[in-house]
Amino acid sequence: MQIESTNGPYHELDVQGLAIAVFKDERADEGFLRDLDALTGGAIKSVIDSEELKGKEAETVYLHLIGNSEIRAQRLLLIGVGERGEYSTTQASQFAGTAVRALRGKSVKSIAIVPRLEGNPEEIASVVIEGAFMSLFDPDKYRTVDKEERQIERLVVVMAGADETGLKRGVERGRIIGESVNFTRDLANEPGANMTPTIMSERAREVAGEFGLSVDVLDEARMEQEGMGSLLSVARGSDEPGKLIVLKYTPSNGAEESAGLLAFVGKGVTFDSGGISLKPGENMELMKYDMTGGATVIGAMRAIGQLKPPIPVLGVIPCAENLPSGKATKPGDVVRAMTGKTIEVINTDAEGRLILADAIAYAKKLGATKIIDMATLTGAVSIALGDVHAAVLGTDQELIDEIIAAGKEAGEKFWQLPLDKEYSKQIKSDIADIKNVGGRKAGTITAAAFLKEFADGVSWAHLDIAGTAWGDEAKPYRSKGPTGIAVRTLLRIVSRAS
Ligand code: BES
Ligand code: ZN
Ligand code: ZN
Repeated sequence: MQIESTNGPYHELDVQGLAIAVFKDERADEGFLRDLDALTGGAIKSVIDSEELKGKEAETVYLHLIGNSEIRAQRLLLIGVGERGEYSTTQASQFAGTAVRALRGKSVKSIAIVPRLEGNPEEIASVVIEGAFMSLFDPDKYRTVDKEERQIERLVVVMAGADETGLKRGVERGRIIGESVNFTRDLANEPGANMTPTIMSERAREVAGEFGLSVDVLDEARMEQEGMGSLLSVARGSDEPGKLIVLKYTPSNGAEESAGLLAFVGKGVTFDSGGISLKPGENMELMKYDMTGGATVIGAMRAIGQLKPPIPVLGVIPCAENLPSGKATKPGDVVRAMTGKTIEVINTDAEGRLILADAIAYAKKLGATKIIDMATLTGAVSIALGDVHAAVLGTDQELIDEIIAAGKEAGEKFWQLPLDKEYSKQIKSDIADIKNVGGRKAGTITAAAFLKEFADGVSWAHLDIAGTAWGDEAKPYRSKGPTGIAVRTLLRIVSRAS
């Protein structure tokens, strides 16, 4: 797809389809819509008067402009974006996604979109292009019959009067981010057989080679040397060996890590059967996406390699397949983590925290001073927050506030849960230092309390994306399946820190 931007008038553009944002209760006889109404020969007044178009969010009206239209595009899609006062980057990004998905469905090959958001053109062009790219992801990679192959060849973002270099930069940034989010979604969507720890590490190597990152992949022998008994205890049940992927971006300006090193750590359980504490069969196929946290880190690093921020960033992804076998860890077993802490494994299905424990410790060994880990860690987070917010918890309130604020800008919602020390009582073990489950109460919090044991001495926050990483239903602006949650927020955090 060729992407462009223009600061000229939309009605002269040589495209097949034009998508325009319309605010709630907007009138056809004033401002922007009055001009549009005149250009279309009265079509806008007609759809507003007939009450087909009220400007409610995601409402769409599709028209063929024939007769006395002065707009070069023949097809017009009007999309409601809700209240003008609440219209911001999140809504503009979703507007663009809705526009592109809807027009693709109508076999339109070239599209101009008019987001009508005031503000920084670079910023706005970026979120619009991000939304457009993200809307084009479909999970039907392995479908061979009845597959719709409609493609959009050209997309133009229209911001009348905006600074041209800003627009161009925004379009490029949006493309990098949108493609990287889709890269993450593609990994998350892969069946377990096609996304083993070995394959995941190969994908990370390719990304590193293509985008100028350094890469190191620890095999099980090296994990052994590092004393990563917690990570190894999860990998043990499978014939597929575990891997620990390390990606690093170093800015070319040579700015060293005097100001600290930011690290992203992501859970890469390429399939979670539960292990000996086997999960019920219903919906178990979805546990292929239990490596989404890891895929998020690889996707973010893929974008960082291209956006080239002035600060270094580390990515650490522990990968394992959680299966039952004669070699698998059993409930009651005690394992020793890299830090020396001993862990009683009460439930082998609480494996994410076991692999993250050693990955967080390793990130610290590599010099990380600020760590954000992300994981499809607990079913409990869906009970608490549904599929709307991801949970954020941690030890550094400033970092948590930063994540929530960056998420707001990026169109991703994070909600803080408490992590008071009282919760740590729930993970005390009778036989070892700690145990890997904390009972029925506050499951998301006790999982974070477990991780906290390994994150001392650094600024740390944890994102539980188990409820938000997979969309059960399609939205107007995106397909069902992997959502790519958190990639855009991580990239905002990096650019805000730069
Ligand atoms: N991968 C799961 C969490 C999960 C559940 C992710 C649903 C996505 C959707 C995790 O490894 C797990 O099984 N957690 C257990 C922990 C429990 C045994 C303490 C859970 O949430 O039930
Ligand atoms: Zn599990
Ligand atoms: Zn899991």
